[in-house]
Amino acid sequence: MITRQRFNMPTTEVRNSAGDSIQLHEYNGKYYPLLPHIEGTLPQLPDLPCRDDDVMILTYPKAGTHWTWEIVNMLYAGDGQISSRRKGESMMEAVTVESLAALPSVRLLNTHLPPEFYPKDLIKRKCKVIFVQRNPKDVYVSFFHHTKKFKPYDFKGDWNSYFLMAVEGKVDYGTWFDFTKQYEQFFSGHPDIPVLRLYFEDMKQDLPTEVEKICNFLGLSCEPSYRDKVVEKCGFQFMKNEKKIPESFMNTMVNGKEDPIFRKGIIGDWKSHFTVAQNERFDQEYKQQMKGFSFPFEQYM
Ligand code: A3P
Repeated sequence: MITRQRFNMPTTEVRNSAGDSIQLHEYNGKYYPLLPHIEGTLPQLPDLPCRDDDVMILTYPKAGTHWTWEIVNMLYAGDGQISSRRKGESMMEAVTVESLAALPSVRLLNTHLPPEFYPKDLIKRKCKVIFVQRNPKDVYVSFFHHTKKFKPYDFKGDWNSYFLMAVEGKVDYGTWFDFTKQYEQFFSGHPDIPVLRLYFEDMKQDLPTEVEKICNFLGLSCEPSYRDKVVEKCGFQFMKNEKKIPESFMNTMVNGKEDPIFRKGIIGDWKSHFTVAQNERFDQEYKQQMKGFSFPFEQYM
């Protein structure tokens, strides 16, 4: 069912087999979130003009994008401070191409979009990519809370209903499985693109080592004292306190008073959501879909 809704763009009501729905933007048969500029921006992204020093932070939603963006930003800024700037300013699908063009270098571009939108100029210039991944069970639990909290989704279901949305592929950006496989294929097909793979679980277990990996990858110096400052300031509680979402945005876009981004920040919250049957179904799906792949987070699944 197509209706005209918020942000004055066509909105698709996507229903799961339990009859619950979420409101999404549909483009070429796939679903995306109702971000204010998405309708105009999506078709322009493959031809986005880029810069040699652009860095791409690539994630499926809820894998730790804000966290990684803040770390990388602090490493470039060198001031040891949580930035007053926001990740969303350089989230490609969330803003206009004009505002992306107006950003100062180094641009920390970030996206959850599949490879079909990847700017060709980023490929040509061999821009660096930080690909952050996380146990998909925790990803979907985090995505469920995100979808409940953000008003434009208008999702009234519970976790059981969202689980169906996820396994039926009725969520924004498509399934975690497709996203992950498509990018692994994309990077195999473009071996010239420098890619650093990070894992949320590794960042939780040993952030100093992961920060050093980022420094080495980006060619930045990382004195142990500065590395430790970055680790301290980018800790979950510190970021939750410092990176407050403006009240006007909370009031218009978010259900309730809880921060929609900094929720728990832990490994394994899926265990308090998945039923035994859901876990078996997901494991089965994972086994079928991810044949031939192996990831460090599998030990937490
Ligand atoms: P949870 O919902 O499981 O708590 P994204 O930025 O890609 O939207 O990801 C959001 C997830 O990353 C949320 O997971 C959030 O709590 C977690 N997160 C954000 N900052 C973090 C930090 N500094 N340390 C650990 N987890 C963090």
